[in-house]
Amino acid sequence: MAVSPRIELVAGGLSLSRLVFGAWRLLDGQRPDGDAVARLIDTAVDLGLTSFDHADIYGGYEVEEAFGAGLARWKGRREGIELISKCGIMLASPNRPQNRLKHYDTGAVHIEASVERSLQNLCTDYLDLLLIHRPDPLMDADDTARAFERLVTAGKVRAVGVSNFTPEQFDLLASRLPFPLVTNQIEHSVLETSALTDGRLDHAQRLGYAPMIWSPLGGGSLFTGEGAREQSVRAALQAVAAETGAGDISTIAIAWLLRHPARLVPVLGTMKPERLAGLVKALDVTLDRQQWFAILEASEGRAVP
Ligand SMILES: NC(=O)c1ccc[n+]([C@@H]2O[C@H](COP(=O)([O-])OP(=O)(O)OC[C@H]3O[C@@H](n4cnc5c(N)ncnc54)[C@H](OP(=O)(O)O)[C@@H]3O)[C@@H](O)[C@H]2O)c1
Repeated sequence: MAVSPRIELVAGGLSLSRLVFGAWRLLDGQRPDGDAVARLIDTAVDLGLTSFDHADIYGGYEVEEAFGAGLARWKGRREGIELISKCGIMLASPNRPQNRLKHYDTGAVHIEASVERSLQNLCTDYLDLLLIHRPDPLMDADDTARAFERLVTAGKVRAVGVSNFTPEQFDLLASRLPFPLVTNQIEHSVLETSALTDGRLDHAQRLGYAPMIWSPLGGGSLFTGEGAREQSVRAALQAVAAETGAGDISTIAIAWLLRHPARLVPVLGTMKPERLAGLVKALDVTLDRQQWFAILEASEGRAVP
């Protein structure tokens, strides 16, 4: 059985499993109880997926608590896994009646309060990684950096990063910190390829941090999408799956991400154990250049210039 190896996000820094378990959809189906979550954690860890991606807002602010109930029952060691969370998005939600509208808050007061709640909900006393969820037009980089420094010094957070930032936004926050931002978690897949050309993956490669990749299967539209792009990408993935004899289109879609030299770290969204096992097989598949470009061509609807 394929098992995910590990990856250092920056040289000598925090290491995660090469494939990460994304918890966003944990409560999408029937609400799992603590025992069911503990079994899911076991399934992931057995596949080498020791890193779990959260955010305060997932499930309308309820996923972290449901996951924490599972962690409290789980028999493994806390040090054997990595917990990632995010903050900064303020949802208009029955669980946050004070938010009159969706907005962002990357101020130190909010960041530190959000981390305290995440720690409590996840039944842990530290996060391995904290990310600012989205760029905030009102971000005061000095204030945000002060919160990061205090949280790291207090041992409540081991490492910090960002999500959905442009290279310029990343550089601004990094310029105020005495330690590196270890990742930018961005959307990228065979159906959403803008990071290849807008500088985000070049920035990651230049600074040497491994970007985390969300919706690596297009959020499921790879399987359900009816558009010309989805159909053409599915056909290209099927052709490569047949050529390599390795897995199905989902395996090849993840292998396409792993082939990029910026060391992408896909965050997998499925809650189904058998699908997780199929995706881990991607770690044993290395696409050659022409297979990789055939998938890009199918996605962009034209050959490269
Ligand atoms: N930083 C950010 O702004 C941000 C934004 C969005 C997400 N994220 C993170 O990224 C993680 C992954 O995002 P995602 O859930 O959109 O990822 P994804 O892996 O692209 O999509 C997961 C969806 O695809 C479906 N799926 C997977 N394999 C399938 C298959 N073989 N056949 C049919 N359907 C399949 C899943 O359904 P089943 O569950 O039924 O398998 C699920 O609904 C999230 O959990 C979250 O941690 C971060």
